[in-house]
Amino acid sequence: MDGHLVDRTEEDIIKEAMHEMPYGIYVIGTTADGKPNGMIADWVLQVSFNPRLVMCAFEPDSSSLGRIRQNKFFTVNLLNQEGNGMALARSFVQPSNAAKVRGRSGAASAVQHDKLAGIDYRLAERATGCPVIEDALAYLECEADRIEEVGDHVLVFGRVLYGEVLNQGEPLTSTYTGWSYSG
Ligand SMILES: Cc1cc2nc3c(=O)[nH]c(=O)nc-3n(C[C@H](O)[C@H](O)[C@H](O)COP(=O)(O)O)c2cc1C
Repeated sequence: MDGHLVDRTEEDIIKEAMHEMPYGIYVIGTTADGKPNGMIADWVLQVSFNPRLVMCAFEPDSSSLGRIRQNKFFTVNLLNQEGNGMALARSFVQPSNAAKVRGRSGAASAVQHDKLAGIDYRLAERATGCPVIEDALAYLECEADRIEEVGDHVLVFGRVLYGEVLNQGEPLTSTYTGWSYSG
């Protein structure tokens, strides 16, 4: 048997290869019932020039996906490696719905965590009511065009309504954070 398979399964080896794929670190902004929310995501990419479309892959139970299904709009905030980008990323790691954290039950799981508390943001004009993070490197305002279930994620294709570079710096990436949502 191949020596490198002794301690690690083939599954581990595939995961390790997939962890090498670099991703940007984004906060996907959504809103519903007048309440904005931000979700950290890295499965985000441009998929068409004309029309200009971006795609984001969501876990089926993410509350952000529910908000997009409700009102179609979302923002894509690309975080900055400089300044407070890493701290911002950390503050979005908690789910808004504490019931999503394994092992929490009863009162703890009923808690709604406001990930935007203490964050400097404004509300987008075209992607109405969705948060634009002031310290992001750049952001896009999008309107969902198609929503497709693929494998264990739900792909949202968003038409880009507007976008702007907000600050100087370099994009925050999975290579920089060392965090992995892949494999
Ligand atoms: C670095 C990182 C990247 C992530 N990327 C994605 C992603 O691309 N799609 C996704 O659905 N969840 C992703 N997640 C998990 C979501 O952020 C997490 O499920 C979150 O609780 C969903 O938030 P919401 O319930 O407020 O929508 C990622 C988490 C981390 C830490």
